[in-house]
Amino acid sequence: MVFQKAPETLFWQTPARCAGSFDAFCRGRLKLIDQTLLPARLKYIECRRQEDVWDAIKKLCVRGAPAIGIAAAYGVCVGLQPLFAGGKVPPKKLFYRQLEKVTAYLATSRPTAVNLFWALDRMKECAARLKEEKAADVAAALLDEARAIHEEDRVLCRRIGAHGQKLLKKNSSVLTHCNAGGLATADYGTALGVFYAAQEAGKNIRVYADETRPLLQGARLTAWELRQHGIDVTLICDSMAAMLMRQKKIDAVVVGADRIAANGDTANKIGTYSAAVCAKAHRVPFYIAAPFSTFDLSLKDGSLIPIEQRDPEEIRRGFGRQTAPDGIKIYNPAFDVTPAELITGIITEEGVISPVNTRAIRRMFPQCRTTPRR
Ligand code: MRU
Repeated sequence: MVFQKAPETLFWQTPARCAGSFDAFCRGRLKLIDQTLLPARLKYIECRRQEDVWDAIKKLCVRGAPAIGIAAAYGVCVGLQPLFAGGKVPPKKLFYRQLEKVTAYLATSRPTAVNLFWALDRMKECAARLKEEKAADVAAALLDEARAIHEEDRVLCRRIGAHGQKLLKKNSSVLTHCNAGGLATADYGTALGVFYAAQEAGKNIRVYADETRPLLQGARLTAWELRQHGIDVTLICDSMAAMLMRQKKIDAVVVGADRIAANGDTANKIGTYSAAVCAKAHRVPFYIAAPFSTFDLSLKDGSLIPIEQRDPEEIRRGFGRQTAPDGIKIYNPAFDVTPAELITGIITEEGVISPVNTRAIRRMFPQCRTTPRR
């Protein structure tokens, strides 16, 4: 199977004729798939204001750690555009003040995926390098930087796929949780990229997708995406995974990540930890697939990873239907942390880290910054 062209998760749309990056910056729009409507509708929304980008991230129209980072990078351009309205070029002081404001604002959209802060820092560092240039030139460079973050993710995911597929035998059955596919990245995915690469290598794999309560990213997104790419996918409720492992129907678990601490403890969608515990109990290898931008080496271990708490209504009235009594207490953390000792290996663009520990991670990414992102 050759990877088919999927609908673009998000992109910077420019008019047909654009005279260079500054023109593309001024006249471009961030467009992204509204993932809350999938699989029933494939619809793009346009983000014209920084508030639209913030909402799109907060409401999970765009979600998945790398895709959040890419959206935020383009979001910086969206937030700076008003300064250039009507052909004006703002004074540099105003430009840099607005850059600080936009990046600080977008950073408040979701707390767990470190790719968001990594991308915002990278945009700020790009602008800081160009302090001597005109505001228009810095603006053009920022759009180029956002595009570079986007393009790099395509490449990184394919490299993750190439390393990860070697871990899967022919005809194996794998379990995944949430959606770490093209919808969660530039276009190929981390965990799902491993499956696409295995399929491209003729390994004829079968995937079990956890539906992923409460927002059903597995059912709505992973099942949809894998089917589009002709992969044999079976949807299960999260609670069924343990039984499948006991029945020896799962050869490996591969999931994505939102933030990986220095010692390898990994935050990912709520329910990942349960899958890892079950995998350990049944001696099933458990892999995380993630690029370097998901590592946060400033955090010693996973206890320091901020975990997003979401609206109780997502559980009480998920998808508009009441399924719990009014007034009932609800606890709704969006992520959990899987301790490093439950992780067989972390599949990165540079290779597989195994065993997972602080030394091995540092050896794989010696240049990775160790100061806090946010
Ligand atoms: O709340 P979400 O849908 O943004 O959660 C996404 C996940 O947990 C993914 O597994 C993770 O971001 C990896 S995406 C390559």
